[in-house]
Amino acid sequence: MSFDTAALSQIANAMVAPGKGILAADESSGTIKKRFDSISVDSTEGNRQTYRQMLFTTPGMADHISGVILFDETIRQSTDDGVPFPKYLADLGVIPGIKVDTGAKPLAGSPGETVTEGLDGLRERLAEYYELGARFAKWRATYSITDDLPSENCYRVNAHALARYAALCQEAGIVPIVEPEVLMDGTHTIERAAEVTARAQQELFDELFRQCVYLPGTILKPNMVLSGYSAATQASDEEIAATTLGVFRATVPAAIPGIVFLSGGQSDEDATARLNLMNTMGPLPWALSFSYGRALQAPALKAWGGQAANLGAGQAAFAKRARLNGLAAKGEYTAAMESAA
Ligand code: 13P
Repeated sequence: MSFDTAALSQIANAMVAPGKGILAADESSGTIKKRFDSISVDSTEGNRQTYRQMLFTTPGMADHISGVILFDETIRQSTDDGVPFPKYLADLGVIPGIKVDTGAKPLAGSPGETVTEGLDGLRERLAEYYELGARFAKWRATYSITDDLPSENCYRVNAHALARYAALCQEAGIVPIVEPEVLMDGTHTIERAAEVTARAQQELFDELFRQCVYLPGTILKPNMVLSGYSAATQASDEEIAATTLGVFRATVPAAIPGIVFLSGGQSDEDATARLNLMNTMGPLPWALSFSYGRALQAPALKAWGGQAANLGAGQAAFAKRARLNGLAAKGEYTAAMESAA
Protein backbone atom coordinates (compact mmCIF):
# COMPACT_ATOMS: atom_id res chain seq x y z
CA MET A 1 0.00 0.00 0.00
CA SER A 2 1.41 3.36 -1.01
CA PHE A 3 -0.48 5.44 1.53
CA ASP A 4 1.09 6.93 4.67
CA THR A 5 -0.94 4.59 6.83
CA ALA A 6 0.55 5.71 10.16
CA ALA A 7 -0.36 9.36 9.53
CA LEU A 8 -3.85 8.42 8.33
CA SER A 9 -4.68 6.28 11.35
CA GLN A 10 -3.29 8.89 13.71
CA ILE A 11 -5.68 11.52 12.24
CA ALA A 12 -8.63 9.10 12.19
CA ASN A 13 -8.10 8.18 15.83
CA ALA A 14 -7.85 11.83 16.84
CA MET A 15 -11.17 12.50 15.08
CA VAL A 16 -12.89 10.03 17.40
CA ALA A 17 -10.92 10.71 20.60
CA PRO A 18 -12.93 9.81 23.73
CA GLY A 19 -15.71 12.33 24.44
CA LYS A 20 -15.20 14.20 21.17
CA GLY A 21 -17.03 14.41 17.86
CA ILE A 22 -17.22 16.45 14.70
CA LEU A 23 -19.03 19.67 13.87
CA ALA A 24 -20.45 19.51 10.34
CA ALA A 25 -20.36 23.17 9.25
CA ASP A 26 -20.00 22.40 5.56
CA GLU A 27 -23.40 23.51 4.34
CA SER A 28 -23.23 24.27 0.62
CA SER A 29 -24.29 27.74 -0.59
CA GLY A 30 -27.83 26.46 -1.20
CA THR A 31 -28.18 24.76 2.18
CA ILE A 32 -26.81 27.63 4.27
CA LYS A 33 -29.23 29.96 2.46
CA LYS A 34 -32.09 27.71 3.60
CA ARG A 35 -30.80 27.81 7.19
CA PHE A 36 -30.44 31.61 7.08
CA ASP A 37 -33.90 31.98 5.49
CA SER A 38 -35.32 30.25 8.58
CA ILE A 39 -34.05 33.15 10.73
CA SER A 40 -34.64 35.84 8.05
CA VAL A 41 -30.94 36.58 7.55
CA ASP A 42 -29.48 37.28 4.09
CA SER A 43 -26.96 34.67 2.99
CA THR A 44 -24.11 37.08 2.15
CA GLU A 45 -20.46 36.07 2.33
CA GLY A 46 -20.04 38.41 5.31
CA ASN A 47 -22.95 36.90 7.24
CA ARG A 48 -21.66 33.41 6.56
CA GLN A 49 -18.21 34.38 7.87
CA THR A 50 -19.75 35.98 10.97
CA TYR A 51 -21.87 32.92 11.72
CA ARG A 52 -19.08 30.40 11.24
CA GLN A 53 -16.66 32.57 13.24
CA MET A 54 -19.20 32.63 16.08
CA LEU A 55 -19.20 28.82 16.16
CA PHE A 56 -15.43 28.34 15.80
CA THR A 57 -14.51 30.88 18.48
CA THR A 58 -16.89 29.41 21.07
CA PRO A 59 -14.96 29.11 24.35
CA GLY A 60 -14.28 25.49 25.27
CA MET A 61 -15.28 24.10 21.87
CA ALA A 62 -12.08 22.08 21.55
CA ASP A 63 -12.95 20.10 24.70
CA HIS A 64 -15.74 18.32 22.81
CA ILE A 65 -15.13 18.95 19.11
CA SER A 66 -12.25 17.07 17.45
CA GLY A 67 -12.74 18.41 13.95
CA VAL A 68 -14.86 20.74 11.82
CA ILE A 69 -16.04 20.02 8.28
CA LEU A 70 -15.74 23.19 6.19
CA PHE A 71 -17.17 24.20 2.82
CA ASP A 72 -14.92 25.41 -0.01
CA GLU A 73 -15.73 29.07 0.72
CA THR A 74 -15.14 28.70 4.47
CA ILE A 75 -11.74 27.02 4.24
CA ARG A 76 -10.57 30.17 2.41
CA GLN A 77 -12.07 32.62 4.93
CA SER A 78 -10.42 34.14 8.02
CA THR A 79 -11.35 35.43 11.46
CA ASP A 80 -11.88 39.17 11.87
CA ASP A 81 -8.26 39.26 13.06
CA GLY A 82 -7.08 37.85 9.76
CA VAL A 83 -6.27 34.28 10.91
CA PRO A 84 -7.37 31.76 8.24
CA PHE A 85 -10.10 29.53 9.69
CA PRO A 86 -8.12 26.29 9.16
CA LYS A 87 -5.13 27.74 11.02
CA TYR A 88 -7.35 29.10 13.78
CA LEU A 89 -8.90 25.66 14.29
CA ALA A 90 -5.62 23.74 14.05
CA ASP A 91 -4.04 26.07 16.66
CA LEU A 92 -6.87 25.10 19.02
CA GLY A 93 -6.20 21.41 18.38
CA VAL A 94 -9.31 21.06 16.21
CA ILE A 95 -8.71 19.27 12.90
CA PRO A 96 -9.90 21.12 9.77
CA GLY A 97 -11.90 19.02 7.30
CA ILE A 98 -13.46 19.75 3.92
CA LYS A 99 -16.55 18.65 2.02
CA VAL A 100 -15.36 17.60 -1.44
CA ASP A 101 -18.35 16.09 -3.20
CA THR A 102 -20.22 18.39 -5.56
CA GLY A 103 -23.66 17.11 -4.68
CA ALA A 104 -26.14 14.29 -5.28
CA LYS A 105 -27.37 14.46 -8.89
CA PRO A 106 -30.18 12.51 -10.63
CA LEU A 107 -29.00 9.00 -11.49
CA ALA A 108 -29.54 8.32 -15.19
CA GLY A 109 -31.91 5.41 -15.74
CA SER A 110 -33.02 5.30 -12.07
CA PRO A 111 -35.91 7.74 -11.56
CA GLY A 112 -36.07 9.12 -8.01
CA GLU A 113 -32.47 8.22 -7.18
CA THR A 114 -29.19 10.09 -7.08
CA VAL A 115 -25.49 9.51 -7.53
CA THR A 116 -23.00 11.82 -5.88
CA GLU A 117 -20.62 13.65 -8.19
CA GLY A 118 -17.22 15.30 -7.75
CA LEU A 119 -14.56 12.80 -8.86
CA ASP A 120 -13.29 14.74 -11.88
CA GLY A 121 -10.29 16.81 -10.85
CA LEU A 122 -10.53 15.53 -7.27
CA ARG A 123 -6.82 14.61 -7.00
CA GLU A 124 -5.84 18.22 -7.75
CA ARG A 125 -8.51 19.67 -5.45
CA LEU A 126 -7.37 17.42 -2.58
CA ALA A 127 -3.77 18.57 -3.04
CA GLU A 128 -4.91 22.18 -2.73
CA TYR A 129 -7.11 21.45 0.31
CA TYR A 130 -4.16 19.72 2.00
CA GLU A 131 -2.10 22.88 1.44
CA LEU A 132 -4.96 24.92 2.94
CA GLY A 133 -4.79 22.71 6.05
CA ALA A 134 -7.47 20.04 5.57
CA ARG A 135 -6.61 16.67 7.10
CA PHE A 136 -9.93 14.93 6.55
CA ALA A 137 -12.71 15.14 3.99
CA LYS A 138 -16.37 14.23 3.54
CA TRP A 139 -18.37 12.74 0.66
CA ARG A 140 -22.10 12.10 1.09
CA ALA A 141 -24.20 9.64 -0.91
CA THR A 142 -27.96 9.48 -0.40
CA TYR A 143 -30.45 6.63 -0.71
CA SER A 144 -34.25 7.10 -0.68
CA ILE A 145 -36.55 4.40 0.62
CA THR A 146 -39.80 3.50 -1.16
CA ASP A 147 -41.42 0.09 -1.71
CA ASP A 148 -39.10 -0.39 -4.72
CA LEU A 149 -36.05 1.74 -3.94
CA PRO A 150 -33.12 1.85 -3.50
CA SER A 151 -32.28 -0.01 -6.69
CA GLU A 152 -29.22 -2.27 -6.90
CA ASN A 153 -27.80 0.27 -9.34
CA CYS A 154 -28.03 3.02 -6.73
CA TYR A 155 -26.19 0.98 -4.07
CA ARG A 156 -23.45 0.08 -6.55
CA VAL A 157 -22.71 3.40 -8.21
CA ASN A 158 -22.68 5.28 -4.92
CA ALA A 159 -20.42 2.73 -3.22
CA HIS A 160 -18.08 2.81 -6.20
CA ALA A 161 -17.83 6.61 -6.12
CA LEU A 162 -17.36 6.65 -2.33
CA ALA A 163 -14.47 4.20 -2.62
CA ARG A 164 -12.84 6.11 -5.49
CA TYR A 165 -13.05 9.28 -3.40
CA ALA A 166 -11.70 7.51 -0.31
CA ALA A 167 -8.65 6.13 -2.12
CA LEU A 168 -7.83 9.54 -3.61
CA CYS A 169 -8.09 11.12 -0.15
CA GLN A 170 -5.69 8.61 1.36
CA GLU A 171 -3.20 9.12 -1.46
CA ALA A 172 -3.27 12.83 -0.53
CA GLY A 173 -2.76 12.18 3.22
CA ILE A 174 -6.38 13.07 3.99
CA VAL A 175 -8.71 10.82 6.03
CA PRO A 176 -11.96 10.13 4.17
CA ILE A 177 -15.29 10.29 5.96
CA VAL A 178 -17.50 7.99 3.91
CA GLU A 179 -21.14 8.98 4.32
CA PRO A 180 -23.80 6.67 2.91
CA GLU A 181 -26.98 8.40 4.13
CA VAL A 182 -30.21 6.45 3.98
CA LEU A 183 -32.79 9.22 4.02
CA MET A 184 -35.52 8.83 6.58
CA ASP A 185 -38.31 10.54 4.61
CA GLY A 186 -41.24 8.20 4.07
CA THR A 187 -43.67 5.94 5.86
CA HIS A 188 -41.46 2.82 6.07
CA THR A 189 -40.86 0.78 9.20
CA ILE A 190 -37.63 0.69 11.18
CA GLU A 191 -37.14 -2.90 9.94
CA ARG A 192 -37.14 -1.67 6.34
CA ALA A 193 -34.67 1.10 7.25
CA ALA A 194 -32.43 -1.54 8.85
CA GLU A 195 -32.50 -3.70 5.71
CA VAL A 196 -31.60 -0.77 3.44
CA THR A 197 -28.90 0.57 5.78
CA ALA A 198 -27.30 -2.87 6.02
CA ARG A 199 -27.32 -3.29 2.25
CA ALA A 200 -25.74 0.17 1.74
CA GLN A 201 -22.98 -0.69 4.24
CA GLN A 202 -22.27 -4.09 2.68
CA GLU A 203 -21.91 -2.64 -0.78
CA LEU A 204 -19.75 0.21 0.54
CA PHE A 205 -17.33 -2.08 2.39
CA ASP A 206 -17.12 -4.45 -0.61
CA GLU A 207 -15.97 -1.50 -2.72
CA LEU A 208 -13.61 -0.12 -0.07
CA PHE A 209 -11.86 -3.51 0.07
CA ARG A 210 -11.83 -3.86 -3.71
CA GLN A 211 -10.30 -0.42 -4.17
CA CYS A 212 -7.63 -0.96 -1.48
CA VAL A 213 -8.87 1.71 0.91
CA TYR A 214 -7.08 1.56 4.27
CA LEU A 215 -9.83 1.03 6.84
CA PRO A 216 -7.91 2.16 9.98
CA GLY A 217 -7.58 5.51 8.19
CA THR A 218 -11.27 5.79 7.30
CA ILE A 219 -14.25 7.11 9.30
CA LEU A 220 -17.84 6.01 8.62
CA LYS A 221 -20.65 8.58 8.85
CA PRO A 222 -24.00 6.80 8.67
CA ASN A 223 -27.61 7.51 9.52
CA MET A 224 -29.12 6.07 12.66
CA VAL A 225 -31.72 3.44 11.81
CA LEU A 226 -35.13 5.08 12.38
CA SER A 227 -38.77 4.63 11.40
CA GLY A 228 -39.71 6.74 8.35
CA TYR A 229 -40.46 10.26 9.55
CA SER A 230 -44.06 9.97 8.29
CA ALA A 231 -44.62 6.42 9.57
CA ALA A 232 -47.69 6.02 11.77
CA THR A 233 -45.70 4.11 14.40
CA GLN A 234 -42.39 5.51 15.57
CA ALA A 235 -39.79 3.23 17.13
CA SER A 236 -38.70 4.02 20.69
CA ASP A 237 -35.22 5.30 21.49
CA GLU A 238 -34.36 1.83 22.86
CA GLU A 239 -35.45 0.13 19.61
CA ILE A 240 -33.55 2.69 17.56
CA ALA A 241 -30.35 2.19 19.54
CA ALA A 242 -30.57 -1.62 19.52
CA THR A 243 -31.51 -1.85 15.82
CA THR A 244 -28.82 0.62 14.75
CA LEU A 245 -26.14 -1.22 16.69
CA GLY A 246 -27.38 -4.55 15.31
CA VAL A 247 -26.94 -3.31 11.73
CA PHE A 248 -23.46 -1.91 12.31
CA ARG A 249 -22.24 -4.90 14.31
CA ALA A 250 -23.23 -7.10 11.36
CA THR A 251 -21.76 -4.96 8.58
CA VAL A 252 -18.95 -2.65 9.76
CA PRO A 253 -15.45 -4.12 10.21
CA ALA A 254 -13.70 -3.54 13.52
CA ALA A 255 -10.78 -2.11 11.52
CA ILE A 256 -12.76 1.15 11.22
CA PRO A 257 -11.68 3.34 14.18
CA GLY A 258 -14.93 5.23 14.46
CA ILE A 259 -18.52 5.67 13.42
CA VAL A 260 -19.81 9.25 13.63
CA PHE A 261 -23.53 9.68 13.07
CA LEU A 262 -25.25 12.39 11.06
CA SER A 263 -28.36 13.83 12.69
CA GLY A 264 -30.51 13.76 9.54
CA GLY A 265 -33.38 15.87 10.84
CA GLN A 266 -33.75 14.33 14.32
CA SER A 267 -34.32 16.91 17.05
CA ASP A 268 -31.11 17.88 18.81
CA GLU A 269 -32.20 16.23 22.06
CA ASP A 270 -33.19 12.97 20.30
CA ALA A 271 -29.87 12.84 18.46
CA THR A 272 -28.00 13.22 21.76
CA ALA A 273 -30.15 10.77 23.74
CA ARG A 274 -29.90 8.03 21.09
CA LEU A 275 -26.13 8.36 20.73
CA ASN A 276 -25.82 8.15 24.49
CA LEU A 277 -27.99 5.03 24.68
CA MET A 278 -25.85 3.23 22.10
CA ASN A 279 -22.74 4.06 24.08
CA THR A 280 -24.25 2.36 27.14
CA MET A 281 -24.73 -0.87 25.13
CA GLY A 282 -21.06 -1.77 24.73
CA PRO A 283 -18.50 -3.09 24.45
CA LEU A 284 -18.28 -1.85 20.86
CA PRO A 285 -15.50 -2.54 18.33
CA TRP A 286 -15.33 1.09 17.19
CA ALA A 287 -15.70 4.52 18.81
CA LEU A 288 -19.27 5.77 18.40
CA SER A 289 -19.64 9.53 18.21
CA PHE A 290 -21.28 12.37 16.28
CA SER A 291 -20.77 14.46 13.18
CA TYR A 292 -23.88 16.55 13.48
CA GLY A 293 -24.86 19.55 11.42
CA ARG A 294 -28.37 20.57 12.39
CA ALA A 295 -28.37 18.85 15.81
CA LEU A 296 -25.33 20.89 16.89
CA GLN A 297 -26.22 24.15 15.21
CA ALA A 298 -30.00 24.61 15.29
CA PRO A 299 -30.26 26.23 18.75
CA ALA A 300 -27.19 28.39 18.06
CA LEU A 301 -28.57 29.62 14.75
CA LYS A 302 -31.85 30.55 16.42
CA ALA A 303 -30.22 32.25 19.42
CA TRP A 304 -27.97 34.31 17.12
CA GLY A 305 -30.72 35.33 14.68
CA GLY A 306 -28.22 37.44 12.73
CA GLN A 307 -27.82 40.01 15.55
CA ALA A 308 -24.35 41.06 16.72
CA ALA A 309 -25.75 41.48 20.23
CA ASN A 310 -26.66 37.77 20.28
CA LEU A 311 -23.25 36.31 19.40
CA GLY A 312 -22.67 35.30 23.04
CA ALA A 313 -26.09 33.64 23.25
CA GLY A 314 -25.38 31.75 20.03
CA GLN A 315 -22.06 30.53 21.40
CA ALA A 316 -23.68 29.45 24.67
CA ALA A 317 -26.28 27.42 22.76
CA PHE A 318 -23.60 25.74 20.63
CA ALA A 319 -21.37 25.11 23.67
CA LYS A 320 -24.23 23.32 25.42
CA ARG A 321 -24.92 20.94 22.49
CA ALA A 322 -21.20 20.29 22.02
CA ARG A 323 -20.78 19.45 25.70
CA LEU A 324 -23.86 17.22 25.92
CA ASN A 325 -22.96 15.34 22.74
CA GLY A 326 -19.42 14.92 24.06
CA LEU A 327 -20.92 13.27 27.15
CA ALA A 328 -23.22 11.14 24.95
CA ALA A 329 -20.14 9.91 23.08
CA LYS A 330 -19.02 8.45 26.43
CA GLY A 331 -22.49 7.22 27.53
CA GLU A 332 -22.50 9.78 30.35
CA TYR A 333 -25.40 12.01 29.28
CA THR A 334 -28.75 12.22 31.08
CA ALA A 335 -31.89 14.04 29.93
CA ALA A 336 -31.85 16.02 33.20
CA MET A 337 -28.72 17.80 31.91
CA GLU A 338 -30.89 19.54 29.29
CA SER A 339 -32.55 21.72 31.89
CA ALA A 340 -29.55 22.12 34.21
CA ALA A 341 -27.78 25.48 33.97
P1 13P B 1 -27.04 16.74 9.71
O1 13P B 1 -26.48 16.33 11.05
O2 13P B 1 -27.76 18.06 9.74
O3 13P B 1 -27.83 15.63 9.06
O4 13P B 1 -25.81 17.04 8.75
C1 13P B 1 -24.70 16.25 8.80
C2 13P B 1 -24.04 16.25 7.49
O5 13P B 1 -22.90 16.66 7.37
C3 13P B 1 -24.77 15.72 6.33
O6 13P B 1 -23.88 15.49 5.27
